[in-house]
Amino acid sequence: MSAALPAAPLEVDRAQIATALHWDHERLDGLERAAFDAWAEGDLAEARAAFGRFAGGLRRHIGLEETLVFPELDRRVGAGASRELRTASLRSEHRQILALVAAIELAVRSDAVPIRLLRRHLRELLTAHSRKEDQVLYPLVDSLLRPDERGIILRRIELLPEQ
Ligand SMILES: [Fe+2]
Ligand SMILES: [Fe+2]
Repeated sequence: MSAALPAAPLEVDRAQIATALHWDHERLDGLERAAFDAWAEGDLAEARAAFGRFAGGLRRHIGLEETLVFPELDRRVGAGASRELRTASLRSEHRQILALVAAIELAVRSDAVPIRLLRRHLRELLTAHSRKEDQVLYPLVDSLLRPDERGIILRRIELLPEQ
């Protein structure tokens, strides 16, 4: 599965990190839905494959936030930032989300694990997490970066492979 961002070429002056990463949230939601739709239909092979695409895409997304986006915010707002603007809690949510994704990867291989419960927990975590990023963090990063700085980050986002 391609990890490409929207097909239109980036216009650096108007390019927004918020737009690109919100687009990726929606792409990942679609992959996750596809996996569980296949699982509900009893197509376990497709469910495993689709969940693998979702998990790889999510690891990539989290990796680029932690290596490219969060450090920019931390550098600019510093240690005196309000709790809402600190990235530590988002990083800790990432750890919980990745642990759940790993548990579901195991669960789709066996019937012994309560996959519905794991999925519900993952959806709750991911929805609240993505909303904070989409509504607060990404727009703030865009507002703090010059267009050329945003352009550099967006190009690095495009180049980062799935994990
Ligand atoms: Fe995140
Ligand atoms: Fe995100």
